[in-house]
Amino acid sequence: MSAPVTDMAAVPVDWARVRADFPLLERHVHGKPLVYFDNANTGQKPAAVIEAVDGYYRHFNANVSRAVHQLGSEATEAYEGARKRLARFLNVRADELVLCSGTTFAINLVAYSWALPRLKAGDTILVSRMEHHANIVPWQLVAARTGATIRVAEIHEDGTLDREALARAMTPDVKLLAITHVSNLLGTVNPVRELCREARRRGIVTVVDGSQAVPHRPVDLQAIGCDFYAFTGHKMCGPTGTGALWARREHLEAMPPFLGGGEMIREVSFDGTVFNDPPHRFEAGTPNIAGFVGLAAAVDYLDGIGMANIEAREADLLAYLTTALDAEPGVRILGRAPDKAAVVSFLVEGAHAHDLATLLDLEGVAVRSGQHCAHPLLQFYGVAATCRASPAFYNTHAEIDAFITALRKVRRLLG
Ligand SMILES: Cc1ncc(COP(=O)(O)O)c(C=O)c1O
Repeated sequence: MSAPVTDMAAVPVDWARVRADFPLLERHVHGKPLVYFDNANTGQKPAAVIEAVDGYYRHFNANVSRAVHQLGSEATEAYEGARKRLARFLNVRADELVLCSGTTFAINLVAYSWALPRLKAGDTILVSRMEHHANIVPWQLVAARTGATIRVAEIHEDGTLDREALARAMTPDVKLLAITHVSNLLGTVNPVRELCREARRRGIVTVVDGSQAVPHRPVDLQAIGCDFYAFTGHKMCGPTGTGALWARREHLEAMPPFLGGGEMIREVSFDGTVFNDPPHRFEAGTPNIAGFVGLAAAVDYLDGIGMANIEAREADLLAYLTTALDAEPGVRILGRAPDKAAVVSFLVEGAHAHDLATLLDLEGVAVRSGQHCAHPLLQFYGVAATCRASPAFYNTHAEIDAFITALRKVRRLLG
């Protein structure tokens, strides 16, 4: 396991050493060195995370919050320690973080426990055009059951939010604004702090989808000032099936449980059940203990590099990749927001996205193709599918060069 590279933004990071922390990046696929550019989909894991998960199963595997024996206390301490570690990373209180399987669960928790009991016919849920389906479909389910309606905040052609249209859309019937921090298809970084301030002034509760933000830039939830913030662990070097919902304590205290079972109760009898306090009230059943042990290690790892360093490194990779793709004739990039994360969705004249991605894979390059769980956004651009290259801090300029060489070869093959 490597020691943290640096914890000071001023000290240069040895990126080659960082890359060497990721065993999977040594792989070859189809006989070619792997170029992994599908980080917006899921991130790779450093050895420190893999070893933390392994260490849990080897040395203190036990269930949490139930057993009084030594292993049980060690497992509980590690699980609750992960909650505290995440809270410190995001500058919030640990008892405001509900640990769960990821963003999808977190947003559904808000939908079922906060929105469903409160919204009614005549209320409006405002969502942006650039949301992932995880921040659309739960609201459609709520709307169908409550009679509330969904309103869409539109975007400009460059992939930025239409702020004026959004302000106009915040009418008194709007009870909730669901907005992504960073778009998974366009890379657009939304000014969530300002948007949440605007919404709060009008009494609108805010749900921010932080899936594509937390892994790539410093995030201070107190500074953002939202009501709910959801994120997922597997995109931030952590294990799959981990993530959290942060919520203001007053919301958590007022919310009924979403799922019932063990761990989320204080007392059960057939005359009635007393629920546990938040956040445990929302964590029914045995959690992904190993996953959260790994996620705590992931946060240590990211903090060791420094999120400001990661942000700067990825901005450099984005600029290099964008310049390289812009130099290719017939390539169109969707999303040109001035504040943009390292996510590049592109179209190639005369080639279908799936064909491109399939042939790129044969050259060792992993990019995602399709609709990226954002059908309404592709409908806005009038395209059926895109390819998406999303480098992370452990990728290199040389890999971008290899990707461009592979793209040229693939285009020749496609005629
Ligand atoms: C912006 C955004 N929201 C939500 C999700 C869903 O995350 P998960 O599948 O981890 O719940 C993703 C994952 O691709 C995403 O990019």
